[in-house]
Amino acid sequence: MKKTIKKKVRSTRITMPKIRSTKQKFSKIKEQDKTLYKLLQAEQKRQADSLELIPSENIVSKAVLEAMGSMLTNKYSEGYPGARYYGGNEEIDKIENLARDRVKELFGVPYANVQPYSGSPANMAVYIATCEAGDTVLGQHLFDGGHLTHGWKASATAKFFNTVQYHVKEDGYIDLDEVKRLAKKHKPKLIWVGATAYVREFPFKELGKVADSVGAYLVADIAHIAGLIVAGVHISPVKYVDIITTTTHKTLRGPRGGLIMVTNKGLKKDSKLGVKIDKSIMPGSQGGPHNHTTAAMAVAFKEASRPAFKRYGKQVVKNAEALANTLIKGGAELVSGGTDNHLMLLNCGEGRGAIVEIALDTVGLTVNKNTIPKEPASPMYPSGIRLGTPSITTRGMKTKEMKKIAKWILRVLDITKDESLPENSKDRALYLKDFTENIKHNKDIKAIKSEVLTLSRDFPIPDVLV
Ligand SMILES: Cc1ncc(COP(=O)(O)O)c(C=O)c1O
Repeated sequence: MKKTIKKKVRSTRITMPKIRSTKQKFSKIKEQDKTLYKLLQAEQKRQADSLELIPSENIVSKAVLEAMGSMLTNKYSEGYPGARYYGGNEEIDKIENLARDRVKELFGVPYANVQPYSGSPANMAVYIATCEAGDTVLGQHLFDGGHLTHGWKASATAKFFNTVQYHVKEDGYIDLDEVKRLAKKHKPKLIWVGATAYVREFPFKELGKVADSVGAYLVADIAHIAGLIVAGVHISPVKYVDIITTTTHKTLRGPRGGLIMVTNKGLKKDSKLGVKIDKSIMPGSQGGPHNHTTAAMAVAFKEASRPAFKRYGKQVVKNAEALANTLIKGGAELVSGGTDNHLMLLNCGEGRGAIVEIALDTVGLTVNKNTIPKEPASPMYPSGIRLGTPSITTRGMKTKEMKKIAKWILRVLDITKDESLPENSKDRALYLKDFTENIKHNKDIKAIKSEVLTLSRDFPIPDVLV
Protein backbone atom coordinates (compact mmCIF):
# COMPACT_ATOMS: atom_id res chain seq x y z
CA MET A 1 0.00 0.00 0.00
CA LYS A 2 2.74 2.37 1.06
CA LYS A 3 4.63 1.59 -2.13
CA THR A 4 1.66 2.54 -4.35
CA ILE A 5 1.25 5.93 -2.70
CA LYS A 6 4.95 6.70 -3.19
CA LYS A 7 4.74 5.79 -6.87
CA LYS A 8 1.71 8.01 -7.36
CA VAL A 9 3.43 11.00 -5.81
CA ARG A 10 6.47 10.51 -8.02
CA SER A 11 4.42 10.24 -11.20
CA THR A 12 2.52 13.48 -10.41
CA ARG A 13 5.83 15.28 -10.06
CA ILE A 14 7.10 13.98 -13.37
CA THR A 15 4.08 15.31 -15.26
CA MET A 16 4.40 18.87 -13.82
CA PRO A 17 5.81 21.34 -16.38
CA LYS A 18 9.30 22.36 -15.31
CA ILE A 19 11.29 25.30 -16.62
CA ARG A 20 14.99 24.44 -16.83
CA SER A 21 16.81 26.97 -14.74
CA THR A 22 20.49 26.25 -14.20
CA LYS A 23 22.41 28.40 -11.77
CA GLN A 24 25.84 29.67 -12.77
CA LYS A 25 28.44 27.81 -10.69
CA PHE A 26 31.44 30.17 -10.84
CA SER A 27 33.64 27.20 -9.91
CA LYS A 28 36.96 28.78 -10.91
CA ILE A 29 36.15 32.01 -9.12
CA LYS A 30 35.20 29.93 -6.08
CA GLU A 31 38.67 28.35 -6.12
CA GLN A 32 40.51 31.64 -6.51
CA ASP A 33 38.46 34.38 -4.91
CA LYS A 34 36.03 33.55 -2.13
CA THR A 35 35.09 37.19 -1.60
CA LEU A 36 33.92 37.74 -5.16
CA TYR A 37 32.35 34.28 -5.28
CA LYS A 38 30.07 35.16 -2.36
CA LEU A 39 29.05 38.43 -3.98
CA LEU A 40 28.21 36.73 -7.27
CA GLN A 41 26.18 34.07 -5.47
CA ALA A 42 24.29 36.72 -3.54
CA GLU A 43 23.47 38.67 -6.70
CA GLN A 44 22.38 35.48 -8.45
CA LYS A 45 20.02 34.76 -5.55
CA ARG A 46 18.70 38.34 -5.58
CA GLN A 47 17.90 38.11 -9.30
CA ALA A 48 16.20 34.72 -8.89
CA ASP A 49 14.19 35.56 -5.78
CA SER A 50 12.87 38.96 -6.83
CA LEU A 51 11.06 40.40 -9.84
CA GLU A 52 12.83 42.89 -12.04
CA LEU A 53 10.49 45.68 -13.09
CA ILE A 54 13.12 48.17 -14.26
CA PRO A 55 12.10 48.63 -17.92
CA SER A 56 15.68 48.90 -19.19
CA GLU A 57 16.66 45.50 -17.83
CA ASN A 58 16.14 41.99 -19.11
CA ILE A 59 17.45 38.44 -18.84
CA VAL A 60 19.76 37.05 -21.53
CA SER A 61 19.91 33.45 -22.69
CA LYS A 62 22.59 31.05 -21.53
CA ALA A 63 23.94 31.17 -25.11
CA VAL A 64 24.46 34.95 -24.84
CA LEU A 65 26.18 34.45 -21.47
CA GLU A 66 28.43 31.80 -22.99
CA ALA A 67 29.58 34.17 -25.74
CA MET A 68 30.14 36.93 -23.15
CA GLY A 69 32.31 34.58 -21.11
CA SER A 70 34.34 33.37 -24.09
CA MET A 71 38.07 33.72 -24.85
CA LEU A 72 37.19 36.40 -27.45
CA THR A 73 37.79 38.86 -24.62
CA ASN A 74 41.54 38.10 -25.01
CA LYS A 75 41.81 39.68 -28.44
CA TYR A 76 42.61 43.21 -29.61
CA SER A 77 41.00 44.16 -32.94
CA GLU A 78 41.19 47.93 -33.42
CA GLY A 79 39.78 48.75 -36.83
CA TYR A 80 37.15 46.95 -38.88
CA PRO A 81 36.85 43.57 -40.65
CA GLY A 82 39.58 43.38 -43.30
CA ALA A 83 41.33 46.50 -41.98
CA ARG A 84 42.69 45.90 -38.46
CA TYR A 85 45.68 47.38 -36.68
CA TYR A 86 46.45 43.97 -35.11
CA GLY A 87 47.18 40.51 -36.55
CA GLY A 88 45.30 37.32 -35.80
CA ASN A 89 41.85 38.70 -36.53
CA GLU A 90 40.69 36.26 -39.22
CA GLU A 91 37.99 34.69 -37.05
CA ILE A 92 37.10 37.96 -35.31
CA ASP A 93 36.49 39.51 -38.73
CA LYS A 94 34.01 36.76 -39.51
CA ILE A 95 32.28 37.17 -36.14
CA GLU A 96 31.94 40.95 -36.56
CA ASN A 97 30.62 40.52 -40.11
CA LEU A 98 28.13 37.94 -38.85
CA ALA A 99 26.82 40.31 -36.17
CA ARG A 100 26.63 43.20 -38.67
CA ASP A 101 24.84 41.12 -41.32
CA ARG A 102 22.35 39.75 -38.82
CA VAL A 103 21.41 43.13 -37.42
CA LYS A 104 21.12 44.72 -40.89
CA GLU A 105 18.71 41.93 -41.83
CA LEU A 106 16.81 42.22 -38.53
CA PHE A 107 16.06 45.94 -38.92
CA GLY A 108 16.22 46.18 -42.73
CA VAL A 109 19.05 48.72 -42.93
CA PRO A 110 22.01 48.95 -45.33
CA TYR A 111 24.69 49.79 -42.73
CA ALA A 112 25.51 48.89 -39.13
CA ASN A 113 28.38 49.42 -36.71
CA VAL A 114 28.33 46.94 -33.81
CA GLN A 115 31.36 48.29 -31.95
CA PRO A 116 29.92 50.96 -29.56
CA TYR A 117 30.67 49.93 -25.98
CA SER A 118 27.15 50.90 -24.93
CA GLY A 119 24.27 53.28 -25.70
CA SER A 120 25.94 56.49 -24.51
CA PRO A 121 29.16 55.98 -26.53
CA ALA A 122 26.99 55.16 -29.57
CA ASN A 123 25.20 58.49 -29.17
CA MET A 124 28.49 60.37 -28.68
CA ALA A 125 29.77 58.84 -31.92
CA VAL A 126 26.73 60.20 -33.78
CA TYR A 127 27.53 63.72 -32.56
CA ILE A 128 31.14 63.30 -33.70
CA ALA A 129 30.04 62.05 -37.13
CA THR A 130 27.45 64.74 -37.82
CA CYS A 131 28.30 67.89 -35.84
CA GLU A 132 31.10 70.34 -35.10
CA ALA A 133 31.61 71.58 -31.54
CA GLY A 134 29.07 74.33 -30.81
CA ASP A 135 26.47 73.14 -33.32
CA THR A 136 22.84 73.20 -32.22
CA VAL A 137 21.09 69.96 -31.31
CA LEU A 138 17.44 69.36 -30.38
CA GLY A 139 16.41 66.56 -27.99
CA GLN A 140 13.69 65.52 -25.54
CA HIS A 141 13.92 67.08 -22.08
CA LEU A 142 15.22 64.78 -19.32
CA PHE A 143 12.20 65.33 -17.05
CA ASP A 144 9.95 64.42 -19.97
CA GLY A 145 11.70 61.12 -20.56
CA GLY A 146 14.69 62.11 -22.73
CA HIS A 147 18.11 60.57 -22.18
CA LEU A 148 21.09 62.43 -20.67
CA THR A 149 22.98 62.16 -23.97
CA HIS A 150 20.20 63.98 -25.86
CA GLY A 151 21.50 67.29 -24.53
CA TRP A 152 20.78 67.40 -20.80
CA LYS A 153 22.82 70.12 -19.04
CA ALA A 154 24.79 67.70 -16.84
CA SER A 155 25.92 65.64 -19.85
CA ALA A 156 29.06 66.32 -21.90
CA THR A 157 26.73 66.74 -24.88
CA ALA A 158 25.56 70.08 -23.44
CA LYS A 159 29.14 71.13 -22.78
CA PHE A 160 30.26 70.67 -26.38
CA PHE A 161 27.04 71.46 -28.27
CA ASN A 162 24.32 74.08 -28.05
CA THR A 163 21.49 71.89 -26.85
CA VAL A 164 17.83 72.84 -26.98
CA GLN A 165 15.17 70.61 -25.41
CA TYR A 166 11.56 69.86 -26.34
CA HIS A 167 8.81 68.63 -24.02
CA VAL A 168 5.73 66.46 -23.77
CA LYS A 169 2.24 67.97 -23.52
CA GLU A 170 -0.11 67.71 -20.56
CA ASP A 171 -1.38 64.39 -21.98
CA GLY A 172 2.14 62.93 -22.03
CA TYR A 173 2.55 62.94 -25.84
CA ILE A 174 5.51 64.71 -27.49
CA ASP A 175 4.60 68.33 -28.20
CA LEU A 176 5.03 68.33 -31.99
CA ASP A 177 4.09 71.99 -32.29
CA GLU A 178 6.89 72.90 -29.91
CA VAL A 179 9.36 70.70 -31.81
CA LYS A 180 8.39 72.46 -35.08
CA ARG A 181 8.73 75.87 -33.45
CA LEU A 182 12.12 75.11 -31.89
CA ALA A 183 13.43 73.52 -35.08
CA LYS A 184 12.41 76.57 -37.13
CA LYS A 185 13.91 78.97 -34.61
CA HIS A 186 17.19 77.20 -33.80
CA LYS A 187 17.90 75.33 -37.08
CA PRO A 188 19.51 72.33 -35.35
CA LYS A 189 22.06 70.18 -37.12
CA LEU A 190 20.70 67.12 -35.36
CA ILE A 191 17.35 66.14 -33.85
CA TRP A 192 16.99 63.23 -31.42
CA VAL A 193 13.83 61.15 -31.16
CA GLY A 194 13.82 58.43 -28.54
CA ALA A 195 13.72 58.36 -24.79
CA THR A 196 14.33 56.54 -21.60
CA ALA A 197 10.92 57.10 -20.00
CA TYR A 198 8.30 57.73 -22.68
CA VAL A 199 5.17 55.59 -22.66
CA ARG A 200 3.69 56.45 -26.05
CA GLU A 201 4.63 55.47 -29.60
CA PHE A 202 7.32 57.75 -31.06
CA PRO A 203 6.12 59.99 -33.91
CA PHE A 204 8.99 59.08 -36.27
CA LYS A 205 7.10 60.07 -39.41
CA GLU A 206 6.11 63.52 -38.13
CA LEU A 207 9.60 64.26 -36.81
CA GLY A 208 11.07 63.09 -40.13
CA LYS A 209 9.11 65.90 -41.81
CA VAL A 210 10.30 68.45 -39.24
CA ALA A 211 13.94 67.39 -39.68
CA ASP A 212 13.64 67.53 -43.48
CA SER A 213 12.09 71.00 -43.31
CA VAL A 214 15.20 72.41 -41.59
CA GLY A 215 17.82 70.12 -43.16
CA ALA A 216 18.67 68.40 -39.86
CA TYR A 217 19.78 64.84 -39.37
CA LEU A 218 17.11 62.88 -37.51
CA VAL A 219 18.44 60.21 -35.16
CA ALA A 220 16.17 57.63 -33.53
CA ASP A 221 17.57 56.35 -30.25
CA ILE A 222 15.57 53.14 -29.96
CA ALA A 223 17.43 51.80 -26.90
CA HIS A 224 14.20 50.99 -25.06
CA ILE A 225 12.01 49.82 -27.89
CA ALA A 226 14.44 47.97 -30.21
CA GLY A 227 12.98 44.57 -29.32
CA LEU A 228 9.44 45.85 -29.75
CA ILE A 229 10.29 47.13 -33.23
CA VAL A 230 11.75 43.74 -34.19
CA ALA A 231 8.62 42.06 -32.82
CA GLY A 232 6.42 44.41 -34.88
CA VAL A 233 4.66 45.97 -31.88
CA HIS A 234 6.16 49.46 -32.32
CA ILE A 235 6.46 51.39 -35.58
CA SER A 236 9.94 51.13 -37.12
CA PRO A 237 11.87 54.39 -37.66
CA VAL A 238 13.81 53.00 -40.65
CA LYS A 239 11.79 54.85 -43.35
CA TYR A 240 11.78 58.19 -41.55
CA VAL A 241 15.16 58.79 -39.90
CA ASP A 242 18.77 59.03 -41.06
CA ILE A 243 20.52 57.26 -38.22
CA ILE A 244 19.43 54.79 -35.53
CA THR A 245 21.25 54.10 -32.28
CA THR A 246 20.39 51.53 -29.67
CA THR A 247 21.57 49.57 -26.71
CA THR A 248 21.42 45.81 -27.20
CA HIS A 249 20.60 44.85 -23.60
CA LYS A 250 17.07 46.11 -23.06
CA THR A 251 14.04 44.77 -24.95
CA LEU A 252 16.43 43.38 -27.59
CA ARG A 253 17.59 40.90 -24.91
CA GLY A 254 21.25 40.84 -25.88
CA PRO A 255 24.53 41.62 -24.13
CA ARG A 256 25.30 45.01 -22.57
CA GLY A 257 26.38 46.97 -25.67
CA GLY A 258 25.43 49.52 -28.31
CA LEU A 259 25.08 49.80 -32.05
CA ILE A 260 24.55 52.40 -34.76
CA MET A 261 22.67 51.92 -38.00
CA VAL A 262 22.34 54.18 -41.04
CA THR A 263 19.20 54.02 -43.16
CA ASN A 264 18.79 54.38 -46.91
CA LYS A 265 17.34 57.82 -46.20
CA GLY A 266 20.54 58.72 -44.32
CA LEU A 267 22.79 57.42 -47.09
CA LYS A 268 20.76 59.35 -49.65
CA LYS A 269 21.31 62.52 -47.64
CA ASP A 270 25.02 61.80 -47.23
CA SER A 271 26.54 58.80 -49.01
CA LYS A 272 29.55 58.98 -46.66
CA LEU A 273 27.46 58.74 -43.47
CA GLY A 274 28.41 55.11 -42.80
CA VAL A 275 32.11 55.84 -43.24
CA LYS A 276 31.77 58.88 -40.98
CA ILE A 277 30.11 56.78 -38.27
CA ASP A 278 32.85 54.12 -38.52
CA LYS A 279 35.52 56.81 -38.15
CA SER A 280 33.74 58.49 -35.27
CA ILE A 281 33.81 55.19 -33.33
CA MET A 282 37.37 54.22 -34.23
CA PRO A 283 39.61 56.27 -34.07
CA GLY A 284 37.14 59.04 -33.08
CA SER A 285 36.05 57.92 -29.64
CA GLN A 286 36.89 54.28 -28.93
CA GLY A 287 39.76 51.81 -29.14
CA GLY A 288 39.46 48.05 -29.58
CA PRO A 289 36.00 46.52 -29.90
CA HIS A 290 34.78 44.12 -27.21
CA ASN A 291 34.80 40.99 -29.33
CA HIS A 292 33.08 38.78 -26.75
CA THR A 293 30.19 41.29 -26.77
CA THR A 294 30.13 41.32 -30.59
CA ALA A 295 29.76 37.52 -30.56
CA ALA A 296 27.02 37.72 -27.92
CA MET A 297 25.23 40.28 -30.11
CA ALA A 298 25.38 37.84 -33.02
CA VAL A 299 23.73 35.22 -30.77
CA ALA A 300 21.04 37.67 -29.60
CA PHE A 301 20.29 38.89 -33.13
CA LYS A 302 19.74 35.28 -34.22
CA GLU A 303 17.44 34.71 -31.23
CA ALA A 304 15.54 37.90 -32.08
CA SER A 305 14.99 36.74 -35.66
CA ARG A 306 12.95 33.72 -34.52
CA PRO A 307 9.12 33.70 -34.45
CA ALA A 308 9.29 33.12 -30.66
CA PHE A 309 10.80 36.60 -30.25
CA LYS A 310 7.79 38.17 -31.97
CA ARG A 311 5.55 36.35 -29.50
CA TYR A 312 7.75 37.61 -26.67
CA GLY A 313 7.51 41.25 -27.83
CA LYS A 314 3.73 41.03 -28.15
CA GLN A 315 3.46 39.58 -24.65
CA VAL A 316 5.69 42.35 -23.23
CA VAL A 317 3.20 44.97 -24.47
CA LYS A 318 0.15 42.94 -23.44
CA ASN A 319 1.62 42.50 -19.97
CA ALA A 320 2.38 46.23 -19.67
CA GLU A 321 -1.21 47.03 -20.61
CA ALA A 322 -2.54 44.59 -17.98
CA LEU A 323 -0.21 45.97 -15.31
CA ALA A 324 -1.17 49.56 -16.18
CA ASN A 325 -4.92 48.83 -16.24
CA THR A 326 -4.90 47.12 -12.84
CA LEU A 327 -2.87 49.96 -11.34
CA ILE A 328 -5.25 52.57 -12.75
CA LYS A 329 -8.30 50.63 -11.55
CA GLY A 330 -6.73 50.57 -8.09
CA GLY A 331 -6.39 54.36 -8.06
CA ALA A 332 -2.74 54.80 -9.09
CA GLU A 333 -1.85 57.79 -11.27
CA LEU A 334 0.08 56.88 -14.41
CA VAL A 335 1.74 59.55 -16.52
CA SER A 336 -0.21 59.92 -19.78
CA GLY A 337 -2.89 57.64 -18.33
CA GLY A 338 -1.39 54.35 -19.49
CA THR A 339 1.13 52.91 -21.92
CA ASP A 340 1.62 51.90 -25.56
CA ASN A 341 4.85 50.04 -24.96
CA HIS A 342 6.74 48.06 -22.30
CA LEU A 343 7.00 50.76 -19.63
CA MET A 344 4.92 52.99 -17.43
CA LEU A 345 5.59 55.92 -15.16
CA LEU A 346 3.79 56.04 -11.86
CA ASN A 347 3.33 59.39 -10.16
CA CYS A 348 3.93 58.70 -6.44
CA GLY A 349 3.45 62.29 -5.23
CA GLU A 350 5.96 65.08 -4.89
CA GLY A 351 9.48 63.76 -4.19
CA ARG A 352 8.19 60.32 -3.13
CA GLY A 353 9.85 58.20 -5.87
CA ALA A 354 12.74 57.07 -3.65
CA ILE A 355 10.39 56.11 -0.79
CA VAL A 356 8.26 53.90 -3.04
CA GLU A 357 11.36 52.47 -4.74
CA ILE A 358 12.81 51.39 -1.38
CA ALA A 359 9.53 49.89 -0.15
CA LEU A 360 9.03 47.93 -3.39
CA ASP A 361 12.64 46.77 -3.28
CA THR A 362 12.02 45.47 0.23
CA VAL A 363 9.20 43.21 -0.99
CA GLY A 364 11.31 42.00 -3.94
CA LEU A 365 9.88 44.20 -6.70
CA THR A 366 12.82 46.08 -8.20
CA VAL A 367 11.96 49.47 -9.78
CA ASN A 368 13.73 52.78 -10.24
CA LYS A 369 12.77 56.25 -9.12
CA ASN A 370 12.29 58.58 -12.07
CA THR A 371 11.43 62.15 -12.94
CA ILE A 372 7.95 62.85 -14.29
CA PRO A 373 6.94 65.59 -16.78
CA LYS A 374 7.00 69.03 -15.09
CA GLU A 375 8.83 67.36 -12.19
CA PRO A 376 7.85 69.28 -9.03
CA ALA A 377 10.80 67.91 -6.99
CA SER A 378 14.31 67.18 -8.36
CA PRO A 379 16.15 64.55 -10.45
CA MET A 380 17.85 63.33 -7.25
CA TYR A 381 14.56 62.97 -5.36
CA PRO A 382 12.00 62.68 -8.15
CA SER A 383 8.28 62.08 -7.87
CA GLY A 384 7.84 58.98 -10.01
CA ILE A 385 8.88 55.40 -10.44
CA ARG A 386 9.40 53.57 -13.71
CA LEU A 387 7.94 50.11 -14.21
CA GLY A 388 8.40 47.72 -17.10
CA THR A 389 7.60 44.21 -18.25
CA PRO A 390 10.58 42.98 -20.39
CA SER A 391 12.25 40.90 -17.67
CA ILE A 392 9.16 39.36 -16.05
CA THR A 393 7.84 38.46 -19.52
CA THR A 394 11.14 36.67 -20.26
CA ARG A 395 10.42 34.62 -17.10
CA GLY A 396 7.21 33.46 -18.76
CA MET A 397 4.68 35.59 -16.89
CA LYS A 398 1.36 36.52 -18.48
CA THR A 399 -1.48 38.93 -17.70
CA LYS A 400 -2.65 36.87 -14.70
CA GLU A 401 0.67 37.48 -12.95
CA MET A 402 0.62 41.17 -13.96
CA LYS A 403 -2.61 41.63 -12.03
CA LYS A 404 -1.00 40.08 -8.95
CA ILE A 405 2.06 42.32 -9.26
CA ALA A 406 -0.09 45.44 -9.73
CA LYS A 407 -2.05 44.58 -6.58
CA TRP A 408 1.16 44.25 -4.57
CA ILE A 409 2.31 47.64 -5.88
CA LEU A 410 -1.03 49.16 -4.86
CA ARG A 411 -0.68 47.67 -1.39
CA VAL A 412 2.85 49.05 -1.02
CA LEU A 413 1.61 52.48 -2.19
CA ASP A 414 -1.05 52.33 0.47
CA ILE A 415 1.36 51.24 3.22
CA THR A 416 3.72 54.12 2.40
CA LYS A 417 1.11 56.79 1.64
CA ASP A 418 1.91 58.91 4.71
CA GLU A 419 5.68 58.94 4.16
CA SER A 420 7.24 62.04 2.68
CA LEU A 421 10.74 63.50 2.40
CA PRO A 422 11.92 66.03 4.99
CA GLU A 423 11.70 69.65 3.82
CA ASN A 424 15.37 70.20 4.53
CA SER A 425 17.37 68.49 1.77
CA LYS A 426 20.24 67.80 4.20
CA ASP A 427 18.00 65.50 6.26
CA ARG A 428 16.82 63.42 3.33
CA ALA A 429 19.63 60.84 3.10
CA LEU A 430 19.31 60.00 6.80
CA TYR A 431 15.51 59.81 6.56
CA LEU A 432 15.78 57.34 3.65
CA LYS A 433 18.37 55.29 5.54
CA ASP A 434 16.04 54.97 8.54
CA PHE A 435 13.06 54.27 6.29
CA THR A 436 14.99 51.46 4.54
CA GLU A 437 15.66 49.85 7.91
CA ASN A 438 12.22 50.36 9.44
CA ILE A 439 10.12 49.23 6.48
CA LYS A 440 11.71 45.78 6.65
CA HIS A 441 9.90 45.15 9.94
CA ASN A 442 6.44 46.16 8.72
CA LYS A 443 4.10 43.14 9.02
CA ASP A 444 2.26 43.79 5.74
CA ILE A 445 5.49 44.36 3.86
CA LYS A 446 6.80 41.04 5.16
CA ALA A 447 3.62 39.29 3.97
CA ILE A 448 3.89 40.75 0.45
CA LYS A 449 7.58 39.82 0.34
CA SER A 450 6.75 36.18 0.94
CA GLU A 451 4.08 36.22 -1.81
CA VAL A 452 6.57 37.80 -4.25
CA LEU A 453 9.11 35.11 -3.39
CA THR A 454 6.62 32.36 -4.17
CA LEU A 455 5.82 33.87 -7.57
CA SER A 456 9.53 34.37 -8.31
CA ARG A 457 10.22 30.71 -7.59
CA ASP A 458 7.25 29.62 -9.72
CA PHE A 459 8.82 31.52 -12.63
CA PRO A 460 12.56 30.84 -12.35
CA ILE A 461 15.10 32.44 -14.66
CA PRO A 462 14.94 30.18 -17.74
CA ASP A 463 17.92 28.63 -19.52
CA VAL A 464 16.23 28.77 -22.89
CA LEU A 465 14.26 31.84 -23.84
CA VAL A 466 11.03 31.47 -25.77
C1 LIG B 1 17.14 56.07 -24.68
C2 LIG B 1 18.47 55.69 -24.12
N1 LIG B 1 19.57 56.01 -24.81
C3 LIG B 1 20.79 55.72 -24.37
C4 LIG B 1 20.96 55.05 -23.18
C5 LIG B 1 22.35 54.83 -22.67
O1 LIG B 1 22.73 53.52 -22.66
P1 LIG B 1 23.93 53.03 -21.74
O2 LIG B 1 23.46 53.08 -20.34
O3 LIG B 1 24.17 51.67 -22.25
O4 LIG B 1 25.07 53.95 -21.99
C6 LIG B 1 19.85 54.69 -22.42
C7 LIG B 1 20.02 53.99 -21.14
O5 LIG B 1 19.20 53.91 -20.30
C8 LIG B 1 18.57 55.02 -22.91
O6 LIG B 1 17.47 54.72 -22.22
